Amino acid sequence: MAGRLVTFEGIDGSGKSTQVQLLEQELKRIRVQFITFREPGGTKLSEKIREILLDKKNIELSSTAESLLFAAARAQLTTEKIKPALGEGKFVICDRFIDSTIAYQGYGRGLDINDLEIINNIATDGLTPDLTFILDINPSKAVERMDTVAPDRMEATGVDFFRKVREGYHQILEQNPDRCIAINAEQAQKNVFNEINQIILKRFAKELTCS
Ligand code: TMP
Repeated sequence: MAGRLVTFEGIDGSGKSTQVQLLEQELKRIRVQFITFREPGGTKLSEKIREILLDKKNIELSSTAESLLFAAARAQLTTEKIKPALGEGKFVICDRFIDSTIAYQGYGRGLDINDLEIINNIATDGLTPDLTFILDINPSKAVERMDTVAPDRMEATGVDFFRKVREGYHQILEQNPDRCIAINAEQAQKNVFNEINQIILKRFAKELTCS
């Protein structure tokens, strides 16, 4: 199979990671070679950067430094893992990628979108996903699914922040209609997955049958 990059996006509590797991099970069942990564993370170094980014003790972290740390984690993951896997013809699934930076640091934190696009471009050397699912959910519903006992630094930002991030994802959808697909994440998990699976089977029919 030709390597393909599929990314999952959405605000915290949108159920992305569950959908990634369901997709992994399905790809295993149909014997497709795949590999999954999460962002920030996926390499030894990127997981260390993740710890810094999500540690609630790091309150002094500026929005610019935050963006650059996400970008550094992404650069490492792209070079060390994603590009080689695509080169081997694997189906690569990524739980968050470039759009998280635009939605969270751009629309959420209010940083300049053009600057963030340049940073993303440097971090990925221009690599763009073949397909991106954006799991859309009302932030007040998503907050109910978040860890309220021990929220991480990003989860602790509050519902107003997630409203801005959601708006960011809506803008990304509008600007990338061929790559990005909105999925209503307020439906039952099983229905969400059926939608995702149908889209994948249709979009990658050739690649999945040739693997
Ligand atoms: P996760 O909870 O989906 O693992 O993601 C970690 C958090 O980091 C989540 O709150 C989203 C946030 N994030 C950004 O703000 N910018 C980024 O570029 C990425 C990849 C994640």
